[in-house]
Parts: sequence; structure tokens; C-alpha cells
Amino acid sequence: MSRILTGIQSTGTPHLGNLLGAIIPAIKMANDSKNESYLFIADMHSVTQIKDAEQLRLNTYSTAACWLAFGLNYDKTIFYRQSDVPQVTELAWYLNCYFPYQRLTLAHSFKDKSNSLEDINAGLFTYPMLMAADILLYDADIVPVGKDQLQHLEITRSVGNKFNHQNGETFIIPESKVDEESMLITGTDGEKMSKSKNNVIDIFLDEKPLKKQISAIKTDSLPLEASKDWKNCNLFKLYKLLSTEKQAETMKTNYIKGGYGYGHVKTDLLNLILTKYKSEREKYNFYMCNLDKLDSILKAGAVQASKTADEVLNRVRIKVGFN
Ligand code: ADP
Ligand code: TRP
Repeated sequence: MSRILTGIQSTGTPHLGNLLGAIIPAIKMANDSKNESYLFIADMHSVTQIKDAEQLRLNTYSTAACWLAFGLNYDKTIFYRQSDVPQVTELAWYLNCYFPYQRLTLAHSFKDKSNSLEDINAGLFTYPMLMAADILLYDADIVPVGKDQLQHLEITRSVGNKFNHQNGETFIIPESKVDEESMLITGTDGEKMSKSKNNVIDIFLDEKPLKKQISAIKTDSLPLEASKDWKNCNLFKLYKLLSTEKQAETMKTNYIKGGYGYGHVKTDLLNLILTKYKSEREKYNFYMCNLDKLDSILKAGAVQASKTADEVLNRVRIKVGFN
């Protein structure tokens, strides 16, 4: 039996791209898995970018509510908030002291972020050490991540190996796992859907603001009567992602025959989202109105996670020269 572990950034409510590209496949894997799985919300990492305490709290809750609404089984997966197991920061410190400064200066994600963000803090720079600690603290064997995180995984393996080499076997060295089949969802402007691009569809919004997001989807300006090109239409692509085959065929016919405007398609997309995700939207709202329920689920996960964390940290402290 392998131990699978992954972390989720909590920089806002997950959007349709996050859901279809990452969250739904990850939940399926966690729920089906014969393996042991650990899943946590990386709220300590979020402090590198978010300095508003209320915002940070809310992001964690909405991320947790989304995973639970889409069916994450928290009896099978150890589901916790990173900050509820603060042992991770102690391990991050030791790892900091075992990893060459020069190698950290080569991290792509730091270079990207330091080019685009105003607040270039030291936490952004040592981010990979906290991430390595997230993984090594739990004896993880497999870490599913997006391609952009592969370098962080290499850094994790490297610092784990370095520590083992110097002090004898202490850490399990994890493998990364990239889902090559994951879909890339386009946003309302036809570019990759991303929080930072302001082109997202947030399926958990109330009907009115959701309608507003959908009405922002860019199309050409053909008039209602005209026959339209479904093949190159971003609105059609989004509709087809969520519809049944039959619904997509009917929509194709509407495009070709004309007399069906983009406004009609947008209303159909809105209704599709509202019906398809009715139960998930209700569950999400339930959790967001019952934050104590979310807290108790996450705290129970943290109690379990802490047991492993304490064991591993004890091993490390002895090797470092404490305990
Ligand atoms: P964002 O770009 O909105 O900031 P993140 O970088 O936090 O999103 O991504 C979280 C997860 O969602 C990652 O696994 C990422 O690969 C996936 N993801 C993000 N945007 C999309 C998208 N447009 N299509 C498919 N998957 C996506
Ligand atoms: N850095 C990851 C991201 O941006 C999130 C993350 C933090 C993570 N710690 C982790 C992922 C540990 C996997 C394992 O998506």
C-alpha cells in the first residue's frame, strides 16, 4: 500500500477550470484508491501572497467546502489544514539548513512570481522548503501534482536525499505523478481559465452574479438569424464540457440552423450549470453556512495527520542532534 499526498493552494474559491482539470479527477482517485491518501489545504503557503486574515480564513473554508461538496470522502482521506499541523514549520527549518541557497535561487516559480508580484518576501523564496516539509513529514510515496510543480518535487527529493546521505535513512523519497490526460479549460476570454486572469466561471456563485460571468463569455458578433460556427466558438466548447452528447448535438443544430443567438446559448449554459451542479451548490452552501462543521472535519483530519508528523519529526530531531 502506498501513501499518496497532495496539497491544494487556497488562493480563492475554486473555479470551473480547477474543478474539471484537477479537483474532480483527484477526488475520484482518492475515493477509489486502495492506497492511503492525505490531502491538505496549503494555507501557510498562501500567507506568501495574502495578508488579509479574513480573506485567508475564507479561502480555506471555500476550498474545503468545494472538495467536500464534490464528494471527497473524509473517512477515507486524511483531510486537513496545513496550519493545524504546525510541526511542518519546524521540519521546514531543518530542510532550509540542509539545502544550498544557490539551488533555491534557480527555482522557476520564484522567478515567475518575483517578476509579477509586488511583495517579494522571503517566504516566497523558501516556499519550496515548506513544500518539501509538507511531503517528507508524512512519509509520502506518491505526490500527484501539476506540471508546474515538478521542479518543487525535484527539490523535495534532493533535500530528502541530502539529509539521508548525511544522517542515514530518515526520509522516504517520494515520486511525483503528473496526470497527462488532464484537460485544459478555457476561460470567458478564450485564454486558459485562471484566477489571475479574471476570466473564471465560479459555479458556486448565486444565480445573478453567475449569469453576469457567463454573459462575459466572448463570442463573435454574428446576428441572431445567422448560421454560426460551433467549431471555433468558446461558448459552445464550455457548453459541451458540461452537457450530455445529446444536448451538445441539439446545440450544434441550433448553431447551424440560425435563429438562435448567443444570448440563448448563454441562458442554456447558465441553466445547465444550475441543474448539473444543483446538489454540489447546495452542499457547498451548507458548509459555508456551517463553518463549525468544516472546522470539525478539518480538525479531525489534523489529529490523524499529527500522529504521523510527530513520529517522523521525532526521527528527524534525533538525527539533527536534539531529543
Ligand atoms: P489558477 O490558475 O486559477 O491560479 P491554480 O494554479 O491554483 O489555478 O491551479 C490549481 C489546480 O487547478 C492545478 O492542478 C491546475 O493544474 C488546475 N487548473 C487551473 N486552471 C486550470 C484550467 N484552466 N484548466 C484545467 N486545470 C486547471
Ligand atoms: N505548491 C503547490 C501548488 O501551488 C501546493 C502545495 C503545497 C503542494 N504543498 C504541497 C502540492 C505539497 C503537493 C505537495 O499547487
